[in-house]
Amino acid sequence: MAPRITVIGTGYLGATHAAAMAELGFEVLGLDVAQEKVAMLSRGEVPMYEPGLTELLRRHVAGLEGSTGRLRFTTSWEEVGEFGDVHFVCVNTPQKHGEYACDMSYVDAAFTSLARVLRRPALVVGKSTVPVGSAARLAALLAERSPAGAEVELAWNPEFLREGFAVEDTLHPDRIVVGIGGVGGERGEKLLREVYAKPIGEGTPFVVCDYPTAELVKTAANSFLATKISFINAMAEVCEAAGGDVVRLAEAIGHDDRIGRKFLRAGVGFGGGCLPKDIRAFMARAGELGADEALTFLREVDSINMRRRSHMVELAREAVGGGFLGRRVAVLGASFKPDSDDVRDSPALNVAGQIHLQGGQVTVYDPKGMPNARRVFPTLGYADSAAEACRGAHVVLHLTEWAEFRELDPVALGEVVAERRVIDGRNALSPREWQEAGWTYRALGRPTV
Ligand code: UDX
Repeated sequence: MAPRITVIGTGYLGATHAAAMAELGFEVLGLDVAQEKVAMLSRGEVPMYEPGLTELLRRHVAGLEGSTGRLRFTTSWEEVGEFGDVHFVCVNTPQKHGEYACDMSYVDAAFTSLARVLRRPALVVGKSTVPVGSAARLAALLAERSPAGAEVELAWNPEFLREGFAVEDTLHPDRIVVGIGGVGGERGEKLLREVYAKPIGEGTPFVVCDYPTAELVKTAANSFLATKISFINAMAEVCEAAGGDVVRLAEAIGHDDRIGRKFLRAGVGFGGGCLPKDIRAFMARAGELGADEALTFLREVDSINMRRRSHMVELAREAVGGGFLGRRVAVLGASFKPDSDDVRDSPALNVAGQIHLQGGQVTVYDPKGMPNARRVFPTLGYADSAAEACRGAHVVLHLTEWAEFRELDPVALGEVVAERRVIDGRNALSPREWQEAGWTYRALGRPTV
């Protein structure tokens, strides 16, 4: 019989994973400690903006018209323990307040609650991004506290999904990485091969390794991506000093297959719930292991990234005549990247906030990120459209490259602003189009024209 699956934690990762498992044909039970989240998901509603997720959920949530009924949600640990053969733990590990290290309290609480209800053989699969060494510790916790003891195994299976592509990345991953423990680990591997039979059958590489390697794969991958972005942003700084064009430079170096073209878009830098906190947590953990020297470059990666934001503020200040008092600044974008409503560590919102705190009259517009932005930064001005945000502006800042912004008509927009000045913080607008419409176009890492 096919294994029955539970998913613990129904945030981005968990909600997507649960729906994807149901799509693969399994009976799935999702658990969250938040009653209101469980209620929403049970109605087929997704508490965040993620393309395709609502449809996927509605196709499977029990009780919805026309659904397969394979997916249910609960707040009951007892139910989870009775139901599941394979338990995926998908809770988050945010950055600790005022520290680099990540907060393991949700993971620890989830494992502790789960262990108590494991009364029969089960495989627990950790998917959360954790400091290396956590899996071994959590395996010991399960062995010690589960009534089923040695019949419970742990595998570590990091997740690489990108927000905005979560469904696609979960159903068609680039690779599946599985860390297994010593004795009995192969049983876990066998079960996971069964769970992931479909993507494996489609040619997805399946990499088996030990716990620490699996944990490190995730942080190493995110560190590499962050480094690539900061590298191109460092080149943008040099281009600005030397009069070069970083967009052309990225294109030219990217033609070398060894470098590749992806993740070389210079701009206001990376944000979100993963890259910034993952590189910081990685540095903190390396410090504990006495390997901090190996990762000192990540400190530089982080500071290049943060410098992009202050540089953007400086360019905006220059554009409005040297000071923000009495100046109106339109900010296009609030989410940390397009096709997401997530504003965690968003460069756009950070720049908007800095200008606001320095006395500028900031008006923000984002296609999907407004409710979250309003909640975390209620004192900023908000508008219901790009044109409204730009009304009377002395400078327009383009900080999140939504398709909607690329399609803006600079001629029409030129009619509503006070000054036709735009700074393209994502190198995504067409300089020629904006200039032809009478705008002073400025971008990061490109010559001023
Ligand atoms: C990232 C990883 O890509 C994913 O594999 C991991 O599982 C979680 O972290 P995500 O946070 O969804 O995913 O965003 P991603 O698409 O990687 O973008 C991160 C940030 O980098 C965004 O703020 C984006 O605007 C920025 N970025 C990306 C650039 O500034 N330049 C680029 O060339 C690419």
